[in-house]
Amino acid sequence: MKEVRFGIIGVGGMGSAHIGFIKNIPRVKLVALCDLDKVKVDAAAEKNSAKAYYDGVKMLNSGDIDAVLIATPHYDHTTFAVEAFKAGVHVLTEKPVAVHKADAQKMIDAHKKNKKVLFSAMFQQRTLGIYRKLKQLLDAGEFGEVKRVNWIITNWFRTQRYYDSGGWRATWGGEGGGVLLNQCPHNLDLFQWLFGMPTKVRAFCAMGKYHDIEVEDDVTAYCEFRNGATGVFITSTGDAPGTNRLEITCDRGRVIVENGKILFTRTEQSISKYCKNTDKTFEPPQMWNVEIPYHERDSSPAHQKITENFVDAILDGAELLVRGEEGINSVELGNAMLYSSMKDKTVTMPLDAKAYEVLLKGLIKNSKFKKKTVKTTAVDLKDSFGK
Ligand SMILES: NC(=O)c1ccc[n+]([C@@H]2O[C@H](COP(=O)([O-])OP(=O)(O)OC[C@H]3O[C@@H](n4cnc5c(N)ncnc54)[C@H](O)[C@@H]3O)[C@@H](O)[C@H]2O)c1
Repeated sequence: MKEVRFGIIGVGGMGSAHIGFIKNIPRVKLVALCDLDKVKVDAAAEKNSAKAYYDGVKMLNSGDIDAVLIATPHYDHTTFAVEAFKAGVHVLTEKPVAVHKADAQKMIDAHKKNKKVLFSAMFQQRTLGIYRKLKQLLDAGEFGEVKRVNWIITNWFRTQRYYDSGGWRATWGGEGGGVLLNQCPHNLDLFQWLFGMPTKVRAFCAMGKYHDIEVEDDVTAYCEFRNGATGVFITSTGDAPGTNRLEITCDRGRVIVENGKILFTRTEQSISKYCKNTDKTFEPPQMWNVEIPYHERDSSPAHQKITENFVDAILDGAELLVRGEEGINSVELGNAMLYSSMKDKTVTMPLDAKAYEVLLKGLIKNSKFKKKTVKTTAVDLKDSFGK
């Protein structure tokens, strides 16, 4: 194969942005577009000389495409990925890979049955130089053992207008959650990518605290890790100004990732050793401040990098930056936070996928929420991707 024949399912805000990104990638031909909205997909197909489909399953089984990018609302990621694996089509799905853990597991199981095709997910923040550098240094043990992780990630401000802009948004039936399912999958993915999965999760999620929605728009979660480290993860779509501050307390000092900088206050020696052995009473060890430099690989947009890597993996066997299977972790974390909050108890990981699915189905069944939807003009998603 010299060129990947690509199809996109869902040509809404994100799908349309992907059309633009794909055009910049060599060795890709965008041949098919699919959406339930006939007018929208006909116009996009004509503009991009692609074939229009109104049924994703038909597109996947048409023989027209080698790879699909799934950019529909979340519940359908599972449906289309499973169908694509059966049809022998490579899958790049938008985040979150699924709404709940059992659905993510279905995708993994379907992929296991056809390993000839690839499975990747759009966690484009993993391509950012700042997080790549942080991961490299954490993995190398440069900061010593991690003791505490605090991430305040509240710069996901959304207005009521945003929530009213799509019938599927911010409902249990349409989206299966709020900030944890829509905005934070990126941060939850980075959280597990950088620090691993916690062993325990206790969370407090407020439903519709700042918006007229039935799902969570404010979350405070406490986590414990295998080595005894603790973590606090705070997010909201109601704060302005928002904060994005990741503070990591380690045995060799403290790392703060904020405002595009990695600031490391390094201790001259291991704090645990110093604490045990020094004859001083109050004085901490000597410290100095370091701003850790990092660079971006190139100036292409982060989403484009993920798709480009996916194409390189298909054509040249390049290693995937994001293996789709890893997407289950951010889903499980988000689910565990919701489960913990609604059951008012600590969740010992791994989360019981079946129990969560039962809870979610109950929320959908018993929902009395009347969704308001307003017609909006197409939005430019550029400002929504998070920093
Ligand atoms: N990676 C990112 O930075 C990022 C940013 C925004 C959105 N997203 C993800 O992209 C997905 C779509 O979000 P959006 O903001 O583009 O939503 P959107 O509502 O703007 O677009 C969704 C599109 O899918 C179509 N659709 C719905 N069900 C379909 C089906 N069964 N078959 C075919 N088409 C169908 C809708 O008609 C609509 O055009 C979500 O999962 C979201 O989490 C990712």
